[in-house]
Amino acid sequence: MARRFGLERRFSGLETSKARRVGFMFKCLLRAIIGAAKTLRQPPRERSREAGEIATMRTDVDVVSIRRNNRPAIAFKHNNKTDWEVDMRGLHGRRTILTGGASGIGRATTLRLADEGCVVGVFDQNLAGAEETAHLCAAKPGRVLAFQVDITDRDAVAGATDKFEAAAGPVELLANVAGWDIPIAFLETDRAFWDKVIGINLYGPLNLHHVVVKRMVERSFGRVVNVASDAGRVGSSGEAVYSACKGGLIAFTKTVARELARKNIILNVVCPGPTDTPLFEAFTQSSPSGSKIAEGLARAIPLRRLGQPEDYPGMIAFLLSDDAGYITGQTISVSGGLTMHG
Ligand SMILES: NC(=O)c1ccc[n+]([C@@H]2O[C@H](COP(=O)([O-])OP(=O)(O)OC[C@H]3O[C@@H](n4cnc5c(N)ncnc54)[C@H](O)[C@@H]3O)[C@@H](O)[C@H]2O)c1
Repeated sequence: MARRFGLERRFSGLETSKARRVGFMFKCLLRAIIGAAKTLRQPPRERSREAGEIATMRTDVDVVSIRRNNRPAIAFKHNNKTDWEVDMRGLHGRRTILTGGASGIGRATTLRLADEGCVVGVFDQNLAGAEETAHLCAAKPGRVLAFQVDITDRDAVAGATDKFEAAAGPVELLANVAGWDIPIAFLETDRAFWDKVIGINLYGPLNLHHVVVKRMVERSFGRVVNVASDAGRVGSSGEAVYSACKGGLIAFTKTVARELARKNIILNVVCPGPTDTPLFEAFTQSSPSGSKIAEGLARAIPLRRLGQPEDYPGMIAFLLSDDAGYITGQTISVSGGLTMHG
């Protein structure tokens, strides 16, 4: 009390308020210096173009989080100060139908989409394989549901799409990956073989578009990636009908991309080159010189190796993501440089 009285006596009236102001300014200065020092020690903070999304990148820890609209979206790891994983824009939580996810490129793509947090309905005639893919994704941020579907049967596609939407909600993304062929010189093929190849590689994707894209149009949002083949761009000996289907799928995609651009539906094509999957193994095993053909192909590829299933999911996920929102009707070869298009 006495001290207080003393102070008040020493800084009474105007002097007291001046001293308070000086003290207040000193405190502010001190806080600013401490704040600046902390900021310098902290990692840079970035505010992205998407409202409410904040990515914090740290170079001194292993796991960093990204928050979207103030909720945790995904964590990305930091390995050696320059290498980290970030989710692609607009994939988290997206409901996706993917055909051919029981094997090869389709399975690898499902794993990647599950990493990105998508809810994926795998439509494949091989139910055990589709379930195995779902099992492999069990610990990932996304969810995978397996459906046994023959994509050549439009009613089966519609029924499975109903079931997927009942379980997951309205479908937003579509990846047509399923395909099939065995190499036979065209003049030795017959009508039954043409029907099978056309059924899987052309009618299959047409069925998926007719069922799934129609629903996307009603909701004014959809993204589609069709997996064709470099065979559809440059031809491939022993694969005449298959090449016709894949070339047809490329032209079909461009046309529908034009028709539906104003409905906010975008469609693109990814063309794999020779890729080490069960389909390619069947291709090489169908001829006594199969392994030589595979070696020759690997030598002809500028990047000097056959494709692996894991070479494709990045491009497919990108084309399904918001990062590709201004790309439609395009055809992209992912083939180690085997085909280069202007
Ligand atoms: N592997 C290659 O060398 C290569 C090259 C160019 C293009 N592609 C294309 O890539 C895509 C994936 O091929 P992959 O090599 O991963 O083949 P893959 O054989 O490993 O997988 C194809 C999947 O499609 C499914 N499928 C086949 N017919 C079906 C049907 N009627 N209904 C439902 N599912 C069906 C199969 O069960 C399988 O799970 C195909 O479209 C293929 O044409 C592959």
